[in-house]
Amino acid sequence: MSAQRAFITGITGQDGAYLAELLLHKGYEVYGAFRRTSAQDLGRLRELGIDQQIHLEPFELLEFSNILRCIERVQPNEVYNLAAQSFVGSSFEQPIYTGDVNALGTARLLEAIRVVGNRQIRFYQASTSEMFGKVSEIPQRETTPFYPRSPYGVAKLYAHWITINYREAYGTHASCGILFNHESPLRGPEFVTRKITSSLAELLNGQRDVIELGNIDARRDWGYAPDYVLGMWQMVQQPEAGDYVLATGKTHSVREFCEMAAQASGMDIEWGISEARWIGMDRLSGRIIFRTSQSLERPAEVDVLCGDASKAREKLAWTAETSLQEIVSMMVASDAKRVTRK
Ligand code: GDD
Repeated sequence: MSAQRAFITGITGQDGAYLAELLLHKGYEVYGAFRRTSAQDLGRLRELGIDQQIHLEPFELLEFSNILRCIERVQPNEVYNLAAQSFVGSSFEQPIYTGDVNALGTARLLEAIRVVGNRQIRFYQASTSEMFGKVSEIPQRETTPFYPRSPYGVAKLYAHWITINYREAYGTHASCGILFNHESPLRGPEFVTRKITSSLAELLNGQRDVIELGNIDARRDWGYAPDYVLGMWQMVQQPEAGDYVLATGKTHSVREFCEMAAQASGMDIEWGISEARWIGMDRLSGRIIFRTSQSLERPAEVDVLCGDASKAREKLAWTAETSLQEIVSMMVASDAKRVTRK
């Protein structure tokens, strides 16, 4: 039997890299879509030592004809749509582009799969807890009503529903993973967890001063990215396509994440207010480590996310194996090493 062939959009991102690693391990041929217009950033694939094992395909979610040719050429068994404008904050600055890539891009990809006419192709859509936004219940599950709070969340909600629509209208084996935040040492430094751990490493190495943050009272359900890509694959293997929440069921504030990361870096943070900003000081050295800035707050915020992954646990036997404490330790250690390597 010939190897299963997977096509991953967003191969250069955190999830793309970990999913590719998992699928290679399972014997798949992995095709990774990358954008020619952006710098070809294979850093994460290189860190995992798999950059030479991926077939790279130039790909553009804004261009239907390109998507169609790609699917025809690769003839995948499974398509994982992980590509997106994934920065929630930036989506307020680029609402139309975000909609074009995240919402219509998903529609283009589903339509290309339909037009190619191979009904065996299975599809995974990276849906997100951002769709719950202003939450109507805690914890959030598959049946919780959606109320997105950013152009990113709105666009992802369109992508979620168009995926369900193709499943119902055309019988496409299309599943949505409603993933809560998931972190790792390969997380982009634009996201708050990695911003904190990489900045702490730089600060301790004398390369930067105080770390400025936005809303430190936002709460998130933070899991470990490698655990979550396993859940993606498990969804796609089900006889029937469906939608699943992947989450840890625990929620922590950004403030708590700061404290945990600082502690793992040998500090002890005490919070106070100065000139209407929160200041996080290291009790041991008296040094100011964190400071809030209104300029980093979002026009509309998602205050609290906490997921209920019971369905994934029951149907996929999936669990979030890795604790936040373990994730923080890994990220702090990896950033400390990275900074001293420079
Ligand atoms: N990025 C960032 N930078 N966020 C900050 C900062 C800061 O300086 N200060 C506070 N925050 C707060 C944000 O306002 C938000 O409430 C929280 O930290 C988490 O922000 P991010 O790490 O940027 O992630 P996100 O929750 O907005 O979105 C991530 O998770 C989603 C799943 O829930 C992204 O990975 C999305 O693509 C993903 O869909």
